[in-house]
Amino acid sequence: MAENGADIGVYGLGTMGSALALNLADSGFTVAVTNRETDWIDTFVAEDASLSGKLVPAYDLQSFVRAIATPRTILFMIPSGAPMDAMIDEVLPLLEEGDTIIDGGNADFNATRRRFDKLKDTGKHFVGMGVSGGEFGARTGPSMMVGGSRHSWQQMKPMAEAIAAKFEGDPCVAHLGPDGAGHFVKTVHNGIEYADMQMIAELYGLLRDAGDWEAARIGKLFEGWTKGPLSSYLMEISGAALQATDPKTGAPMVDVILDQAGQKGTGRWTVIEALKMGQSASAIEAAVGARGWSAEKTTREAAEPLLEPGTTGFELPDAQDLEHAMLAGRILAHAQGFRILTTASETFEWDLDLARIAEIWRAGCIIRSALLDDFADAFRGELPQGHLILAPAMRTALAEALPGLRRVVAAGVGAGVALPGLSAALAWYDSIRRGRGTANLIQAQRDFFGAHGFERIDEDGKHHVDWPALCPAERDP
Ligand code: 6PG
Repeated sequence: MAENGADIGVYGLGTMGSALALNLADSGFTVAVTNRETDWIDTFVAEDASLSGKLVPAYDLQSFVRAIATPRTILFMIPSGAPMDAMIDEVLPLLEEGDTIIDGGNADFNATRRRFDKLKDTGKHFVGMGVSGGEFGARTGPSMMVGGSRHSWQQMKPMAEAIAAKFEGDPCVAHLGPDGAGHFVKTVHNGIEYADMQMIAELYGLLRDAGDWEAARIGKLFEGWTKGPLSSYLMEISGAALQATDPKTGAPMVDVILDQAGQKGTGRWTVIEALKMGQSASAIEAAVGARGWSAEKTTREAAEPLLEPGTTGFELPDAQDLEHAMLAGRILAHAQGFRILTTASETFEWDLDLARIAEIWRAGCIIRSALLDDFADAFRGELPQGHLILAPAMRTALAEALPGLRRVVAAGVGAGVALPGLSAALAWYDSIRRGRGTANLIQAQRDFFGAHGFERIDEDGKHHVDWPALCPAERDP
């Protein structure tokens, strides 16, 4: 292979990197490939003989960079954080003006903004790109969220569009804004992913613990839902997983799996960033929190015989209520996610196109679902306050599904089965739909104990009163 010939370079041949490199090669692009552990490279290139002509192995950084046509596009699929900073320092001196390096990992968007700024005045470009869809998606068509300069986007667009998942022919990739926009949108995607997974798991828990349903029966119910408005990848795999059998014991697979889930951090980042911007992502926070509690297995086991279940009587909701609860929960969790995107867009001046984001999530990514097409339509249509739940179609869907969500949450409360995601979504809905909330009392409390001042409904400005002087003299201290 002649020097300077490859269309793109992929550094990092782990699961996602090698799948993306093969996808690019499959789409007709010549791909220079390398890896820090060089002994992986030949095995990787030899794996698929039909594509090996499109893969250009390089065994050190210099020859890797030289193998790529200028202006270069280099995709790094390496662990996020310090390794990415070290990589930038290493590769930067080898690059020329106009070259673009892409971080395709799940990076903290704050770091992406910092890296983008670092390269800004060097004539070289940094792109933060969220890639969703797991290994299979990366190989056959992921959804990709790009943040960076227009120059980089023009350069990478034909390749990105060629390898992306397609929804009715429309590639699920877009340039969403500068600096950290792509990684931020991917972070929120993952936050929604956490909430959706959690709500599905909660309905499983209610049926298992309060209804005594076996895993396969629950799996069948979920499978049925994939034919209706709840059609989605996560519902599909949950239904299938619940019906899988352990080859070792013959028991349902889920019954032999430890009830303890890990997390890599993107769900938590969504919540942290939402809080920093004064936003609520309560359904997502509930899901992140639930993973935390799941890790406290020993405490939960010790607590079970010691703490009262608090059962007050309940009626197991019917299948339609359960389906409606999931539908309402899913709409509300997405609405929280999109609300965070709106606020971030204003805060960082990204001008995010929410409809386009919903569109590129319709295929390839983990949260792909039938609803995303409806969300895209909602963002393109009449949208009071720019808020998803106020779109006419969403109001209709919520009006139909809310009674089911209420009955399901009530059943969980009655049965003593925790439904943190669904409850948080419902509580948020009930907060947002009330013109008059209860923060008037919060203002009074703050002013009472700390003279923080309060606003009145009938007069402008900040006010403060001598609270004890205004209270009945005979009140209890
Ligand atoms: C995706 C996923 C992926 C993520 C996994 C695991 O969109 O393909 O979001 O990026 O790494 O879902 O995330 P946790 O380990 O945090 O659950």
